Amino acid sequence: MQYKLKGKVAIVVGGSGQIGKETIDILIKSGCQVVNLDYVGLRFKSKNYYFKKIDITNELEIINFKKDFQKKFKKLNILVNHAHYKGNPKKLDPNNNFFKSLDDYPSNEWKKTIDVNLNAMFYITKHFLKLMLKSKNPVILNTSSTYGKVSPNKSIYGNSGINAPVGYTATKAGIIGFTKYVATHYGDRGLRANVLIPGGVENKNQSKSFKKNYSNLTPLKRMAKQNEYKRAVLFLVSDESSYMTGSEFIIDGGWTAW
Ligand SMILES: NC(=O)c1ccc[n+]([C@@H]2O[C@H](COP(=O)([O-])OP(=O)(O)OC[C@H]3O[C@@H](n4cnc5c(N)ncnc54)[C@H](O)[C@@H]3O)[C@@H](O)[C@H]2O)c1
Repeated sequence: MQYKLKGKVAIVVGGSGQIGKETIDILIKSGCQVVNLDYVGLRFKSKNYYFKKIDITNELEIINFKKDFQKKFKKLNILVNHAHYKGNPKKLDPNNNFFKSLDDYPSNEWKKTIDVNLNAMFYITKHFLKLMLKSKNPVILNTSSTYGKVSPNKSIYGNSGINAPVGYTATKAGIIGFTKYVATHYGDRGLRANVLIPGGVENKNQSKSFKKNYSNLTPLKRMAKQNEYKRAVLFLVSDESSYMTGSEFIIDGGWTAW
């Protein structure tokens, strides 16, 4: 079944990333106009695709963008937030401060994580809420992680130096609380808000041993493919999920089931 989003306008925050690209692809194919908010560019061949280069941690940039957005589109039906902070985005470097353990964790890395994963989500939600409430069937989808539900399992990283640090898991849990607040405080005005909880996506930067360890701890015995979330995203932002709000939608190969 192909859910229809014709006539709707969406913002995808962090749309240039692995999962974001897939979200944009399926939203556009479903007939939606999509604005990708990211500081890394993404080309996409469609007259319904718009890219806005923005640092989402800068509230003033969000406020200015919102003014232009409102003038052009007049409404916002769908807000998807996929952005997150991961230290150096270009490569997995075990010496990156982002991967330090808690007893040694640099406060500025902790603050940067809070800034992208929580503060930016707060700014964008806050500044677009009034417009969403005036739009038809508005829906928010925020992205947590299995590590927002359970702790990162340190055994899968061995002594590679790479890991999911404390700020990641703390903010991913925070995203669930934030989304439930939005769902319960604006549901009576017609706004829905849900959380997507993905498990690990396989990519070329991961080591063989990491992939093996991760897969062993996953009931389905493998990592996710980048395109295994998009249909759920489409369902969650479409009117087909009209009775869902405040929900945690877990797609993790069973990682959190045991
Ligand atoms: N990929 C996984 O294995 C996995 C697993 C569980 C949860 N998740 C969650 O899913 C979401 C998407 O993951 P992904 O792998 O696609 O991430 P990604 O790192 O590939 O993409 C994140 C995007 O956010 C953008 N971004 C970061 N900081 C920004 C800033 N200050 N201003 C503007 N843009 C900024 C980046 O440029 C990037 O395009 C994240 O919230 C992540 O925590 C991912």
